[in-house]
Amino acid sequence: MSTEVPAYRPTFPERRLGVGLVGAGAIARTAHLPAYRAWDVPVVAVTSRTAADAEALAADFGIETVHESLDALLADPRVEVVDLATGPVGRVELIAAAVAAGKHVLAQKPLVSDASELPRLAGVLAEARAKGVRVAVNQNARWAPAWRLATLLIREGRIGDVVGVTHLHDKPLPPLAGTPFDDVPHMLLNDYLVHWIDITRCWLEGSTVVGVTASDHRVPAQPVAARNPWGADLRIDVSSGASASIRIVGSAVASAGGCPFWIHGTEGTLRGSVLLGSDRLTLDRDGDSTDFVLEGQWFTDGFAGAMGELQSAVVGRREPENAAEHVVATVRTTIAAVESAARGGIPVHPVDLELTTAREMSGAA
Ligand SMILES: NC(=O)c1ccc[n+]([C@@H]2O[C@H](COP(=O)([O-])OP(=O)(O)OC[C@H]3O[C@@H](n4cnc5c(N)ncnc54)[C@H](O)[C@@H]3O)[C@@H](O)[C@H]2O)c1
Repeated sequence: MSTEVPAYRPTFPERRLGVGLVGAGAIARTAHLPAYRAWDVPVVAVTSRTAADAEALAADFGIETVHESLDALLADPRVEVVDLATGPVGRVELIAAAVAAGKHVLAQKPLVSDASELPRLAGVLAEARAKGVRVAVNQNARWAPAWRLATLLIREGRIGDVVGVTHLHDKPLPPLAGTPFDDVPHMLLNDYLVHWIDITRCWLEGSTVVGVTASDHRVPAQPVAARNPWGADLRIDVSSGASASIRIVGSAVASAGGCPFWIHGTEGTLRGSVLLGSDRLTLDRDGDSTDFVLEGQWFTDGFAGAMGELQSAVVGRREPENAAEHVVATVRTTIAAVESAARGGIPVHPVDLELTTAREMSGAA
């Protein structure tokens, strides 16, 4: 068994592809552009619904061109990758427009949050495949250093077969009351936990989800103004017999927080944490414990990782790891979690989800 540390940092092709940014909101400013600046990714143009925001972003990050419309950005021959930093509403149509223009796409998460959008998405992805255009999703947490290294160690068999994955949120929640999140049903399960669901699936790769059980609840002293529950529990069962658990107790009061995780395997255990400077990873195997020295942080190296993987795949003429088609299973698991919570926490199996999707598509109640 190798004892080398797998290369977990973001990687890019020798020639970085030109990026056209769509959306000039919070995540573009605080994560996409700082990551691209640090990793020498050329952002050649930007457009946004609010022109003033695009102008301000262009001035702050030295972006040469502000386009007045999406069509103008898509017609710009320097734009090879369209970077969608918009919210989920209208995401599929933005991907469709970029694909029609023959551009590769990196779409923010959640890829879609409504099962009724999956058939249309499938059509767009088929068109992309036929055209040789790559569509990837900004599942940037896959490149959070501790999570990425854990993924690579699992792939190398360093803990044997995965038996169980456990995540705990041991940190305050971000400000939620009075934000658009108030209006997202079962917000923690529907949006906030998407990265945790996605990485859990990656660690359980090779098995299929057979059951999802989720619930959310209001917690003691949660402000009335915070309309969405602050506590959530999610359990995922997969075909191998392994299971996963993700728990948010509420907004934890802690001086030094983080998101610890445990990955138990048949031959060893990985223990680690991400966020708030808590990043760490330890491999416990054969009676020895190895602490890895980690370089980088999820914010913002993860964003470089997601873009770098897409660009490497385009140049290498292969599917990216974060291909939309791969992320669809995350979407389906997320939708199942919301469905379970909406039904009072009963288990939802993939077959139930298909029936629900079919019902929604036929317009039946
Ligand atoms: N770690 C992460 O990956 C992470 C963290 C935070 C947010 N996000 C995701 O990023 C996305 C954006 O979040 P945000 O907080 O930046 O939102 P935001 O509302 O601050 O920004 C969205 C921007 O997109 C623009 N926009 C929306 N639709 C458009 C369209 N059709 N054409 C052009 N511009 C359009 C808006 O004008 C705005 O500038 C969300 O899907 C969110 O879930 C991801």
